[in-house]
Amino acid sequence: MTEKGKVWVNGTLIPWEQATVPLLSHGFSRGSAIFEVFGVHQGATGIFAFRMDEHLKRLENSARLLEMELAYSTAEMMAAVKETARANHIGRGLIKMMAYWSEEAVIHLVLNSKLDLAIFAIPESENLKLDQMDKPISACFSKWRKIHPETVPVGAKACSNYLNSYLTRKDANNRGFDIGIMKGTDGFLAEGSTESVFIVKDGILKTPPLGRVLNSISRKSILEAAPVLGIPCLETIIAPEELLTADEMFTAHTGVKIHSINRFEDRTLQAPGPVSKKLIAFVEQLVRVNDDRFKHWFQPL
Ligand SMILES: Cc1ncc(COP(=O)(O)O)c(C=O)c1O
Repeated sequence: MTEKGKVWVNGTLIPWEQATVPLLSHGFSRGSAIFEVFGVHQGATGIFAFRMDEHLKRLENSARLLEMELAYSTAEMMAAVKETARANHIGRGLIKMMAYWSEEAVIHLVLNSKLDLAIFAIPESENLKLDQMDKPISACFSKWRKIHPETVPVGAKACSNYLNSYLTRKDANNRGFDIGIMKGTDGFLAEGSTESVFIVKDGILKTPPLGRVLNSISRKSILEAAPVLGIPCLETIIAPEELLTADEMFTAHTGVKIHSINRFEDRTLQAPGPVSKKLIAFVEQLVRVNDDRFKHWFQPL
């Protein structure tokens, strides 16, 4: 086994270094690849994927939205993830799945072949620190707007959509902030580069509705867990000024789970505030895979 392990590509485990595509492939030269990233967690009886069913549903949805065809069924992809995780002896880490046209596309813009599939198992390491929920971040409004849903579907997790994300993070970093938060072209809150955004005002948790943001599985999980934890929550249009008066703000995504924001533009916020603290405590317990109320969110690998 090479240091970086084995990658599952179209049914075969191959060395990481060999998992490549031609420079003129459609996936690379047109940016059309779609992908998923989800967590692997250590439980008492082994390792578990976090909501793999939901992540695969989102991958299938990305393909459908972009009129592409996956080559594998849900059951086949689940078995392939298991095979990859086991071959790489992964503990806490991430699974990254890429579905892409490796076919060269020098002239043709539209291809009709089924997508190739690659699955990576990436263990937590010095370079990939996960669950750093105790380290708050700073955030600002991005000068870039979230792509309009009538340009490309924002619900598709497609590589080309991440130019929008790249520019947002770059702009924020240039201005000394950790992350940027995009408004939609209508001026109302959308999301961060690779994270959903939540605010808390007077004890109520709020996040923008789908249709303008990615269907984040962390977002979905927080919205499902909040009522169980006694936290009122709303999916609603959020005006930019609400970010300037929020009691708490945090982002949600697979890598860190819940990331409190301690500075937004020139405001200092309590990070984590009481509602964020409650959610962080819940997640810390959840990822040990021993909360019976949410065991169905984990699939054994
Ligand atoms: C644009 C965007 N929003 C939100 C998220 C969070 O999604 P998830 O919870 O599925 O990681 C991501 C993840 O990469 C993202 O790219």
